[in-house]
Order: sequence, then C-alpha cells, then structure tokens
Amino acid sequence: MQQPVLVTGGAGYIGSHTAKALALAGYTPVVLDDLSTGHRWAVKWGPLVEGDIGDKPLLCRIIDRYSIGAVIHFAAKAYVGESMQYPRKYFQSNVVKSLDLLHALIDCQVSKVVFSSSCATYGIPERLPIDEDNRQCPVNPYGDSKLFVEKALRWYEGAYGLRSVCLRYFNAAGADPEGEIGELHNPETHLIPLVLQAAIGLSPKVTIFGTDYPTPDGTAIRDYIHVSDLADAHVRALEYLANNSASTAINLGTECGHSVRDVIRCAEEVSRRQLHLREEPRRPGDPAVLVASTRRAEQLLGWKPRFTKLRQIVESAYEWLTLERKVVAAAI
Ligand code: UFG
Repeated sequence: MQQPVLVTGGAGYIGSHTAKALALAGYTPVVLDDLSTGHRWAVKWGPLVEGDIGDKPLLCRIIDRYSIGAVIHFAAKAYVGESMQYPRKYFQSNVVKSLDLLHALIDCQVSKVVFSSSCATYGIPERLPIDEDNRQCPVNPYGDSKLFVEKALRWYEGAYGLRSVCLRYFNAAGADPEGEIGELHNPETHLIPLVLQAAIGLSPKVTIFGTDYPTPDGTAIRDYIHVSDLADAHVRALEYLANNSASTAINLGTECGHSVRDVIRCAEEVSRRQLHLREEPRRPGDPAVLVASTRRAEQLLGWKPRFTKLRQIVESAYEWLTLERKVVAAAI
C-alpha cells in the first residue's frame, strides 16, 4: 500500500479534493467521516471509515490497521452564521472533538498533523494583505473554535512532540478541473455556488449582503482560492512535516481581492445569463476586506496558486455544477 494518511472530514468539499491530490502524490487517503455534511460519493481515492473523530477506540484501530503516521484534520462545522446562533455546537464539534482526536493521536504515537484552520481566526484584520503575524481576534464562535485548536497545537508540540501545520484558508471555491468532485453544501451559504445555482435556474435570484462597505463598489472583498490549489498545499504541508520542520501556521489565498459584484459579473459572463439581484443589509460579522499575504506559503512550502484568475475558479465551479445539475438540484 502507498503511504497512508488519515483524512478526517475527507468526504467534505476541501477534504475530498485533498484526498484526490494525496492519491496523485502517491499517498493513500484513509477517510474518517461521519457523513453529517460530507458525501459518500466524494470518497473515491481510498477507504472510507464512517465514524466520529471523538471515538478514541475507533481512531486507535484505524491508526493501527493502516499504520497511520500523519493526519489531515478537516472534520468540523463550518457555517459562520450558524456558529453565532449555536456556539455550543461549534465548541463541541470543533474544539471538544478536535481535542479528543489530538489526544488519541498523541496516545497512539502519531506525531504529524495538518490542521484545517481559517482566516476567520483573524477577525477584523489590523493590516492588509493579512500575514500570519496579524493579531488573531475572531469575531464569531467559528473563528474562535479554530483558534482554540491552533493554540492547543502550539502547546502540544513542546509537551508531546506533536508537530503541526495550521493552514488558514481564505475563501475556498471552484471544483476539481477534471469534474470528479465539486462543492455541495446544504444549506449553501457561500457566494460562488449560490450565484452559479441562480445562473442555472436552481434559485430565482442572488442576494448581495451589504452595498455600503468602504470598498470601490460598496460590496465586500474576499480572496477566492481554488480548492485544488488548497489541496496541493496540504500535500506540501505533509512533506514539510516529514522533513522534521518546526510547527507553523500558513495562510492560503491568492493575494487578490474580488468584490461581490466582481463575482456576480464573472458568473454572468461564464454562464452567459443575466442574474436577478436583490440588495440587503450587511451580514453580521462580515469584515469589509479579507486578502491574504502568501509569502510564507511560498517560502516554507514552495507553494503558489495555479489558478490565479477569478474566472478560472468560477468556470471550474460552473462546469461541475452543470455536469452534476441533477445531484445538486436533489440535494438543495
Ligand atoms: N455574500 C453575498 N450574498 C450571498 C452570500 C455571500 O453577498 O448570498 C457575500 C458575503 O456577505 C461575503 C462574501 O459574499 O461578503 C463571501 O461570502 P461567503 O459566505 O462565500 O464567504 P465568507 O467570506 O463569509 O466565509 C469564508 C469561509 C468561512 C470563513 C470565512 C472567513 O467560507 O469558512 O470566509 O471570514 F470562516
């Protein structure tokens, strides 16, 4: 068997794209997922174990059976809005269960973890582009839950020898360029899939949350990064840890910001449809501008995004959506 890597949440959006990248790089992704938000059909490149990351006996059995030496930990709840309403759910799933997982890894002598973190750990940024030394001051429970695990990981290296790379994603978007997997959440809250679902007639209109931001067109600016570029960075982070390098945290973005109106315009061009728009007030907790500095990713991982144009990202998402229209229509 090729080198096995445990991928928690490997049936989810970023997890499944990373499983594909791992397989292409010569690893076997062993997916552990409870399928609460992930999809069975998205697990194509290695075994699926259906179960809970907080189940220590199960983890020990997987680690033993597959001789796991490294883990990529995606499994989490990831809706910012929901986290404001139900913070308990977020601290239970993202903090308590992540700690259970980390403790099982320590007890089973697994010493390498790549952790799925977020730019939500920064909150309202002090400066732009956001580098990794920016103050981390989350403005929602989701961001705080991710920051808590980052902090635990910092202490666990010295105390238990558990080395980690925390990857702080900016706005993951797009789909596998070969069309094998894509983005499907229920409910969907992310801008690009929502805009494209409207473009193919699965929803009547697109809502713009906030037109009074201090940005050139008044709508919020984000750094959209192609999910396959994110996946590639995970493989590199594993290799970084395999070289005995010290624990670190790394931003993953493109250093380019696009407004909500830019995304809508791009989706209209790609789909050749005009969208019905509705303007609404800002969504609570949405910063005006989030754009990453990617210097550290380049320096430590030798990583640069391959899909640098918003159009490439939107096109790949559109292609997958039109290919899997029925699956998406049935799920939303
Ligand atoms: N937006 C709209 N209309 C929509 C959906 C979104 O105008 O129907 C706007 C949002 O207000 C925001 C931008 O589009 O300004 C992007 O929104 P997304 O929901 O796609 O993404 P977010 O920036 O809110 O969230 C992303 C990740 C989170 C992460 C967060 C960090 O999905 O996991 O960035 O701020 F926590």
